[in-house]
Amino acid sequence: MIEMVTPALEISGLQAWYGESHVLHGVDMLVQPGEVVTLLGRNGAGRTSTLRAIMGLTGARKGSVRIHGTETIGMATHRIAHLGVGYCPEERGIFSSLTCEENLLLPPALKTGQPGMGIDEIYAMFPNLAERRNSQGTRLSGGEQQMLAVARILRTGARLLLLDEISEGLAPVIVQALARMITMLRDKGYTVVMVEQNFRFAAPLADRFYVMEHGRMVEHFTAAELTDKMPVLNELLGV
Ligand SMILES: Nc1ncnc2c1ncn2[C@@H]1O[C@H](COP(=O)(O)OP(=O)(O)O)[C@@H](O)[C@H]1O
Ligand SMILES: [Mg+2]
Repeated sequence: MIEMVTPALEISGLQAWYGESHVLHGVDMLVQPGEVVTLLGRNGAGRTSTLRAIMGLTGARKGSVRIHGTETIGMATHRIAHLGVGYCPEERGIFSSLTCEENLLLPPALKTGQPGMGIDEIYAMFPNLAERRNSQGTRLSGGEQQMLAVARILRTGARLLLLDEISEGLAPVIVQALARMITMLRDKGYTVVMVEQNFRFAAPLADRFYVMEHGRMVEHFTAAELTDKMPVLNELLGV
């Protein structure tokens, strides 16, 4: 018997604009609940725009974006978020005048019926943040700020996480900690879509890969197919 599962995210023919500038030209993507999917591409390929378009944060958009089965193409950003989506933009948006813990207590829970992750569970998952709970946002290292940005999303109860280049500019030891974080999130059943430039970080974590070029998906494959796809990836990304 074939079990039918509602995809966590199902995008088809997604187009998006910033003003007059047409940046997404028909993006297709399917993410099942509990998957970790990596979106690769060169700078300017349209990866950030894809995440922003999912959230309704670009200008006009057209096509279909279903989240847990609900069509969202006509919805405002806050309504999309309330379907249980958490977006972590490249600029992490930590409130620098607030402490680490105040940042964590800030986000309101989404109306998904899923409770947000408790502060204790957050601190168990991110021991660094527990140590730094009373430190001001500005005093946190880049890696701590990145963890805080993700932790803050977990507080909302979002189960589908859209993470934009979380490893960017961070030291290798911090990148390893972020890799452990992604593994923990997968073990806890979260669905993760991560945009990455750092192929070595993403490669061992992802169940499946998509590659974008000029606002379109040009490749998609599973982790098992990665070795066979290396020559193609080399050509597309120079990895
Ligand atoms: N706010 C914006 N206004 C106009 N064009 C933009 C804006 N943001 C990005 N773009 C353009 O959209 C294209 C895709 O960019 P982006 O989604 O940021 O790519 P990536 O994240 O893959 O590097 C690029 O050509 C970029 O110049
Ligand atoms: Mg980007």
